[in-house]
Amino acid sequence: SQKKPRYELKRAEDFGGGRNTFDVYPVSRFDLPFPNYRQPSEVGVFSLDTARDFHNDGRKLRYYVVPPDPKRVNFDLTEGYDTLIKRDEDEKEHLDHILRWILKNRRKFVLARRSISSSSETGEQETGAEHAEGDSQLHTDFIAWRGHFTKLLCTPYENQDGWTMAVSKFNGTWYISEVETPEQRDRRVNMADRQRQMTYWGYKFEQYLTAAEPRGKTETSDPVNTNEAFCTVIRTRLNTHSLVFSGEVDCRAADDHMRAPQCYIELKTSREMFTPNQQRNFRRYKLLKWWAQSFLPGVPRIVCGFRDDSGVVHFLETFKTMEIPNIIKADSHTWNPSVCVNFCDQFLSHVKKVVQEDNCRLVYLFTWRPNCPVTHTVHRDSEYSFLPDWYTQAFHT
Ligand code: A3P
Ligand code: MG
Ligand code: MG
Repeated sequence: SQKKPRYELKRAEDFGGGRNTFDVYPVSRFDLPFPNYRQPSEVGVFSLDTARDFHNDGRKLRYYVVPPDPKRVNFDLTEGYDTLIKRDEDEKEHLDHILRWILKNRRKFVLARRSISSSSETGEQETGAEHAEGDSQLHTDFIAWRGHFTKLLCTPYENQDGWTMAVSKFNGTWYISEVETPEQRDRRVNMADRQRQMTYWGYKFEQYLTAAEPRGKTETSDPVNTNEAFCTVIRTRLNTHSLVFSGEVDCRAADDHMRAPQCYIELKTSREMFTPNQQRNFRRYKLLKWWAQSFLPGVPRIVCGFRDDSGVVHFLETFKTMEIPNIIKADSHTWNPSVCVNFCDQFLSHVKKVVQEDNCRLVYLFTWRPNCPVTHTVHRDSEYSFLPDWYTQAFHT
């Protein structure tokens, strides 16, 4: 056989042929049967208050308020824009809130091991067990924010925004924490006023449909404070990968017979549509992101407020998360949920292969740009280390 010239070998590396990169394209590589995704179960909750301080409880949970006529509402989302209290996005929190939750709930991870091979989770009945002396393992492969997994699921169909994920392996668990790229920072810092206002609309919408108590009153004259959050902590399994992730939840149904995460409701806004083309783009781009975000934690319903260009919502529509794949099925050249989930599964396998050294001070940066393979770089004792001493040292005792 012929000897290949050197430059061709280099090209193969550059374009993902090498074992150090992970190919994304053609995405039909991931068009396989839907992988095993275990019914997500909630293992805990936490809250972040107006000062962004952590609480190991559900105090910031909100309750859905059903409007008298969902087909005819009149929510002005611009109202109160001048009173917005905005979270400082220069303050990088990494996985800190999740790590705080883990330290306060380590006993729930001992049972993770016991239930690894069993089909059902024991849920909240785990309270008696304490973590065994000297058991420094969490018996969980991956820990991250839900939003990081949402980005992974959407990657095969994303053609604008890339990502960089930092990964460290510590005590047998891979921690994934997104790093803001220079392009992402530029876009955030230089956001146009109009764009800023439209971001506010999404938060204001939540105020029109939620109350602090079941069947309570909405408080639309309170300032919007984006520091506040209620987060669910979910345990699930994607094929061979056990996952624990946390995600913000907008509200729950007032009906207290419903259990989490089935009771949770995701709130969204979108511009009202008048043409088939607008509806097609909505299904192609928005429904993909909405589906990925809510599928992961098993949030079954998404309530969308359709607004006009001046930020007034005129009607609501509920989307059932599990129905979304059927809604998009009739479209040609659209997304496929199997591709999303298989991509995530195989990328996580790639991460396990690449990140082998168990060392909290070692960070692998995985970077993806649209139309490129995922590449990575290695950083020892660098600015990218994200597992804090207060966390790692708690495992040494
Ligand atoms: P909309 O999605 O209705 O526009 P979430 O829907 O995930 O609960 O987020 C609530 C709101 O936060 C969004 O409302 C949007 O206004 C804002 N938001 C969420 N993610 C964002 C992002 N990546 N960039 C800018 N704004 C974002
Ligand atoms: Mg939210
Ligand atoms: Mg929302």
